[in-house]
Amino acid sequence: MQDNFGRQIEYLRLSVTDRCNLRCRYCMPESGILKKKHETILRNEEYLQIVETMATLGIKKVRITGGEPLVRRGLPSLIQEIKRIEGIKDISLTTNGILLESQVEELKEAGITRMNISVDSLVPESYQQLTRGGNLASVLRGIEKARELGLSPIKINVVLIKGFNDHEVEHFLNYFDPSIEVRFIELMPIGEAAAWNKDRFLNLNEFLLNRLDLTPEPNHGNGGPCRYYRHTETGRWVGIINAISDHFCLSCNRLRVTADGMLKTCLHSTTEVDLKPYLHDPDGLKNSIINAIHSKPEAHQLNQEDVVPILRNMYTIGG
Ligand code: GTP
Ligand code: 5AD
Ligand code: SF4
Repeated sequence: MQDNFGRQIEYLRLSVTDRCNLRCRYCMPESGILKKKHETILRNEEYLQIVETMATLGIKKVRITGGEPLVRRGLPSLIQEIKRIEGIKDISLTTNGILLESQVEELKEAGITRMNISVDSLVPESYQQLTRGGNLASVLRGIEKARELGLSPIKINVVLIKGFNDHEVEHFLNYFDPSIEVRFIELMPIGEAAAWNKDRFLNLNEFLLNRLDLTPEPNHGNGGPCRYYRHTETGRWVGIINAISDHFCLSCNRLRVTADGMLKTCLHSTTEVDLKPYLHDPDGLKNSIINAIHSKPEAHQLNQEDVVPILRNMYTIGG
């Protein structure tokens, strides 16, 4: 289905939990989060109803997100069922990788062929500090196992934070197998990072294009937020996600559903549509999704000075 700006809406980011086994400093407060009540979180059959309806409206790709999706029990069977829905051609996952080593085989069997994994530092102590306790070695073992099992592409997400991991750029490019894509992400003023000092934020076009010898590869990628380059020294792909400085809203093909059943048509929008009241009303569900798509905003305003902060934290949206 097309929205009012001619964008073909075909990609759904489905958050299956707001819980997480890490507490990254830019995402969550030290005290942790007020978890949503179990009964407000959608059940597998409710997710399936939503995805089935969206598939009839043209959704073809589904990305499972969180919080941390691997902490949700019964995730492989949800993935398997989503994969069976007519019209769904692709199902992928974004994870912090902590539980990957023990779950990746089952996820692959369920139908996941590609995944994005967050690794913000390759220095064990820095990783542990940023994530408040995460074990880097277990994430790296999970990534290696996913690669050995043939998942492809595997993309590593690195949020670059000035003064924390900006000196690790070259290490990231040399560390991983060349089949793995490394993508650097601009820190967004969402969640805990909304209160951070501006000097922590890097404009990645300025920073990375000055620092590395990169040749644009405009034909690589899937039209998502990532722009790809070839790195001369290592010959590998490098992705840059300029979520703030050079956003990609004009080609945005995405919808998001949160774990408590709220439909968001933009990561940064303040308005949400509650789908829960329509879960026993197929026509109502379909109409509310159609209406929401027609009101998808043209672009986010995060790069403007007088921006209204969004009410939700990243862990409840799934990025
Ligand atoms: P693929 O393109 O399918 O690989 O997925 P992706 O790169 O969009 O997914 P991922 O979950 O790995 O997200 C990477 C980064 O892109 C995260 O920081 C997301 O918050 C950001 N991102 C994803 N979608 C959007 C979007 O619609 N708008 C903005 N501003 N950022 C987004
Ligand atoms: N800015 C940029 N990226 C973020 N993520 C979470 N919070 C932020 C933020 N404030 C990233 C995670 C993960 C992806 C789903 O979103 O690191 O890679
Ligand atoms: Fe968890 Fe992702 Fe937030 Fe880190 S950024 S605390 S891994 S939801």
